[in-house]
Amino acid sequence: MKKQEAPDSRIDPEHIPGHIAIIMDGNGRWAERHGKSRSKGHEAGAKNVYEITEACRELGVKTLSLFAFSTENWRRSKKEVDSLFRLMSRYVKRYSDQIQKTDVRLLHMGNLEDLPRETAGDIRECLEQTRNNKAMDVCIALNYGGRQELVDAARRLAGQVKAGNLREEDITEEALEANLYLPQHSEVDLLIRTSGENRISNFMLWQISYAEIIVTPTLWPDFNRSCLNDAIVEYQARNRRFGGRP
Ligand code: IPE
Ligand code: IPE
Ligand code: MG
Repeated sequence: MKKQEAPDSRIDPEHIPGHIAIIMDGNGRWAERHGKSRSKGHEAGAKNVYEITEACRELGVKTLSLFAFSTENWRRSKKEVDSLFRLMSRYVKRYSDQIQKTDVRLLHMGNLEDLPRETAGDIRECLEQTRNNKAMDVCIALNYGGRQELVDAARRLAGQVKAGNLREEDITEEALEANLYLPQHSEVDLLIRTSGENRISNFMLWQISYAEIIVTPTLWPDFNRSCLNDAIVEYQARNRRFGGRP
């Protein structure tokens, strides 16, 4: 295990965002800039996941949600999609012992059913292995779509009404939230998108209602600890009002 880095004196340890969500974008452009194949770009991105997870854990972030593959990413070539899933299998196996040692729990958002059986199996194994860990939750959004999550929640509510377990007037924000994929992590404090794209791309539509948003031009494979620290410093300078008046 690597030595823990000295804390960044600009960061107030009392106001660390509890839940950070990251749209990890820019692997393809990183590869292009380095004259490498897209799959090499994804590999550089995968390596960075563990680095940023560790940085968050050391800072005391309780939940880290990571967008790894969207329901729309199936529109890419079969070659790219296949190589992405092979890479995920490789990395989840490579890091599962370290995740376990650092008491990190892996959770999943989305649908594992449509993934190649081997990748789904490797991920399920890591979910199972880390299920009692307590230091931090890493929620991996894999074959995830924010709209699909809301559709799935609506279907579950409809099922409960149909079964006579829920009245129509009891369909509240709380009831819908309770039917999200990970209801315990329904509020994002800080949303970071790398690679300079100013859009949400169907990520955690419910949970980001009042998230502070930071878009950085840095490409995901280059987004290191010091970039993360910069984002937290910027977050801490923001004035979160939640619709009220200070
Ligand atoms: C993000 O990098 C990874 C996934 C969406 C799986 P991209 O592959 O989208 O990289 P760019 O946007 O082409 O640079
Ligand atoms: C969003 O990135 C999805 C992930 C990071 C997994 P995309 O590269 O798919 O988003 P768009 O296509 O630029 O909106
Ligand atoms: Mg992209």
